[in-house]
Amino acid sequence: MLDNHNREINYLRVSVTDRCNLRCVYCMPKEGLSLLGHKDILSYEEILRIVNVAVKTGIVKVRLTGGEPLVRRGLIDFIASLRKIESLQEITLTTNGILLEHFAERLFQAGINRINISLDSLNPGKYRDITRGGDLHKVLRGIEKADSVGFSPIKINVVAIKGFNDDEILDFAKLSMSKPYQIRFIELMPIGDTADNNQQIYLSNDTIRGKISSFIPLEPVNGNREKTDGPARVYKMRSAMGEIGLISAMSHEFCESCNRLRLTADGHLRVCLVSDDEVDLKSPMRAGCRDSELENLIKKAIFDKPKRADIHCYEHQRKKCVRNMSSIGG
Ligand code: GTP
Ligand code: 5AD
Ligand code: SF4
Repeated sequence: MLDNHNREINYLRVSVTDRCNLRCVYCMPKEGLSLLGHKDILSYEEILRIVNVAVKTGIVKVRLTGGEPLVRRGLIDFIASLRKIESLQEITLTTNGILLEHFAERLFQAGINRINISLDSLNPGKYRDITRGGDLHKVLRGIEKADSVGFSPIKINVVAIKGFNDDEILDFAKLSMSKPYQIRFIELMPIGDTADNNQQIYLSNDTIRGKISSFIPLEPVNGNREKTDGPARVYKMRSAMGEIGLISAMSHEFCESCNRLRLTADGHLRVCLVSDDEVDLKSPMRAGCRDSELENLIKKAIFDKPKRADIHCYEHQRKKCVRNMSSIGG
């Protein structure tokens, strides 16, 4: 359905868990985060119920996120159940890739259409540092496996971090020469407990684009844009197999074309990634509400979706976005 600002809302991102098998420095503080209890998390049945109602309001694409979605038990059966919802055109997944080698084949068989993988360094030592312990080789094997079982296009999410991976921009970009992947550079956003620090290490996508362009010209890729696509601006290096995507949430506002809602791991509908205005769906569901009431709550949330978020100003934003990324899912 259309929101109050004439945007068609057709994409629901579902965080299935706030747990993660990594501890990325820009996502979690060193001491970790307090995790939601088992009862606080939506059950798969509850998520299925919400998605079934959400498709009636026009949702046609679901992306499963976390924390790390692959750490939640029973995910494959849950995906198979989601797949039975006929009007759902696309089910996608965003993962850190650590468990992907193990799950890729079953994810494909269960009906996941596309996979996006987070990867912030191609250097094993730096990868271990940024994730506080992750093994790069597992992720690389996971990507290969996802490719070999037939996932396409594979998108690699690289959060750009000043003083950390700015010397790897070209290495990442060159990966799109030899592989049919879309390498997406994401600007760091001030979200949750790490917001203050993120401000210090923010790097703009204009800088990244400049670095790549001084090596080889970037040509914009137009056309083929689906109504359900995310906010990446897409480019290609000449004769490359893959593409470069820029997700410039801080420097180039894309709220005008925002098409999405988010369901947090604890059952709140979040109408904007960076605003803590949420609609609690879990409490009414657990109090026995009818589907029609749930549908009305979702419709009202869509209708009231804010026109834009003040994400461009770190000072302002920092005060507003309290929830951590690990229970929103990006
Ligand atoms: P596609 O289906 O492949 O287009 O995926 P996507 O870009 O929607 O999903 P993905 O999980 O790969 O998102 C990449 C990152 O882009 C997210 O983790 C966020 O950091 C950022 N992002 C995605 N959507 C939004 C949005 O609506 N607002 C803002 N500010 N950032 C977003
Ligand atoms: N800003 C931008 N992207 C972030 N991600 C996690 N935290 C942030 C942040 N503060 C990214 C992850 C992953 C995706 C789900 O969100 O690296 O690619
Ligand atoms: Fe949508 Fe909010 Fe992101 Fe803007 S900042 S694109 S309104 S989720």
